[in-house]
Amino acid sequence: MYRMNFILTRKTRINNIIYLLLFIVLIFVWSRPTFLRSLYNGYFYLPSIQSDQSHLLEKTLSIELRNNEYRYSKKTVSQIPNVISTKLNYSEANFRLSSSPPILWLDMYGDPHWNEAAEREMYTYLLEKQTIDDSRSNDKIIDECLERPLFIINQQGWGFFSRVHRFLEQFGQTLYSPWMALLSNYRFSVSNAGRDDFLNEGIVRYFDPISTCSKFIRHSRLEPIRKRLRGANQNSMSVSKIDDLLYENQRKMNVKFRLLDKSTVWAFGYEHIPHRRALFDYNRGPLDYSYSFAYLINHTYEHMYHEPSLSSVYLNTWKSRNRPWGKSAINLPGKSYQVTWQDRLFSSFLYYMFARFFHQPAPRIRQLTHLLVDHWSTYLNDKNGQSLDALGGLFIRRGDKAREDSFWRKHKRWRNISMYVKGIVDEEQRRNQTFSSIFVMTDDVSVMKSLQDYANPRSKGIDEPYARQYLHGRQIMYNVFAPQACFDPFIRIGFEQFLVSLEFLVQYAKLIVGHSDSNVGRYLEELMYARHQLNVSVRTHSLVRDAPNSL
Ligand SMILES: *[C@@H]1O[C@H](CO)[C@@H](O)[C@H](O)[C@H]1NC(C)=O
Ligand SMILES: *[C@@H]1O[C@H](CO)[C@@H](O)[C@H](O)[C@H]1NC(C)=O
Ligand SMILES: *[C@@H]1O[C@H](CO)[C@@H](O)[C@H](O)[C@H]1NC(C)=O
Ligand SMILES: *[C@@H]1O[C@H](CO)[C@@H](O)[C@H](O)[C@H]1NC(C)=O
Ligand SMILES: *[C@@H]1O[C@H](CO)[C@@H](O)[C@H](O)[C@H]1NC(C)=O
Repeated sequence: MYRMNFILTRKTRINNIIYLLLFIVLIFVWSRPTFLRSLYNGYFYLPSIQSDQSHLLEKTLSIELRNNEYRYSKKTVSQIPNVISTKLNYSEANFRLSSSPPILWLDMYGDPHWNEAAEREMYTYLLEKQTIDDSRSNDKIIDECLERPLFIINQQGWGFFSRVHRFLEQFGQTLYSPWMALLSNYRFSVSNAGRDDFLNEGIVRYFDPISTCSKFIRHSRLEPIRKRLRGANQNSMSVSKIDDLLYENQRKMNVKFRLLDKSTVWAFGYEHIPHRRALFDYNRGPLDYSYSFAYLINHTYEHMYHEPSLSSVYLNTWKSRNRPWGKSAINLPGKSYQVTWQDRLFSSFLYYMFARFFHQPAPRIRQLTHLLVDHWSTYLNDKNGQSLDALGGLFIRRGDKAREDSFWRKHKRWRNISMYVKGIVDEEQRRNQTFSSIFVMTDDVSVMKSLQDYANPRSKGIDEPYARQYLHGRQIMYNVFAPQACFDPFIRIGFEQFLVSLEFLVQYAKLIVGHSDSNVGRYLEELMYARHQLNVSVRTHSLVRDAPNSL
């Protein structure tokens, strides 16, 4: 690019030399590490997370960038206003142009989509909210953590991803004001949780810090915040009305901690957060948390579209897959407000972005995932010259899930393994592609044993003929670091290896068959869609599907 410019525009020798000098200066500036980092990684660089692992984190983020088809050039770093102050005609091709402003739309199948501009700007916004500029000394950062008002989201009980889902939902409610959100600690409740969860933190330990202040939380000066995260309640107020969330009201309360508790997890809607107007309006202004009520709920002119054939009846009843409980019970400005499909689309988009933004497993889990990848890619290559390119995934949750499993509730037994296999076979036929290897994640040892038997060409068994027919000769893969090759939190292998298996699937599986009755299944679906929907051919069911209920 630069060379082209250089050759085309040069007129005189002097110009020539000036350009050359400029070019050299640019190259120099470019190659300085911090510059390079902030420009290349653009918005995906977490500026304030600078621990021993910062190097690793950056590396992983930039790898993730490349893997995820992000092609953020240096140009995208400067905030281009992208103002198009008229309604656009529905055209997915145009929406996806790099010159388009942030746009949200429902495609002909009713799948939510957003373009790169929307994703990038949302990510930047989340970074700004959750992080503090890291160019200052640690002491300055800690000073600021002590000074700032903070949101504390109460971690809820139940299973691992049930906690994650509740956190993501409640995080959305904090976007009415600029304060950083932290997640409280809450011990896992299974009887023998104490061994792994020795700090009684619950899910906190398994992810990278969700904010700059969380990252420094073990610093002695942050003791007051640490105490708050463990349940002390001085200098706090509980948010009990949706109005309490608004910036103007927040500012009047002179407290350090604003507490979001379990009674409001599914109650308060976040469809009118100020950033919506700053992101999707025709005439976008800078983000201002002091917007009036009337302004916040006025969405007359925003870039949200639907494929023209979707009827208004359809739109009025449209529900996003990632917020299956539907709309929130309490919305701004009050009971009379009717939530629109645009509102639901917007909150669905936010939720996908939260899942993506916060999905940063702890470095040790990512490292273990790399080892697992190394194990299987070497194995496949040495065995028959194959690679991980044609990898399918199965997630089969049984164990204590019976009560919540829709199939179990109806038939009083689990779905046959054949039904999960059918989920894979159907998609193989649709894609005209075979997944020669299948990575299995399950909490049931018998499932793992059966699958290996079904795939074994020398097996003499006769049960589940469908699964046997289609798995015959395929490579069944699993987490070799988990002693029983499956997970059962805190009883067999703990959450570490469970997350390694999950991360392996997230990074390598071209298709996962599981079930959204399970929180893990739902999370996989949300995360995979959020990571891949910029690809035009990806729909909500392209990458993660529910196993069918019959053969
Ligand atoms: C939308 O399409 C109509 C009819 O094809 C055209 O007249 C109009 O200029 C288009 N608007 C935009 C913003 O492209
Ligand atoms: C919404 O805002 C527009 C300007 O952006 C204004 O023309 C319109 O009257 C507002 N609608 C309501 C109901 O306030
Ligand atoms: C499926 O793919 C194979 C090659 O991988 C090709 O020969 C065949 O024509 C394809 N079938 C269809 C229906 O596209
Ligand atoms: C499915 O499972 C049930 C109960 O375990 C069994 O009776 C049935 O034969 C299985 N179906 C197939 C096709 O294997
Ligand atoms: C987009 O997705 C399709 C199918 O899911 C895949 O075949 C294709 O390689 C993807 N495109 C890119 C650029 O990754």
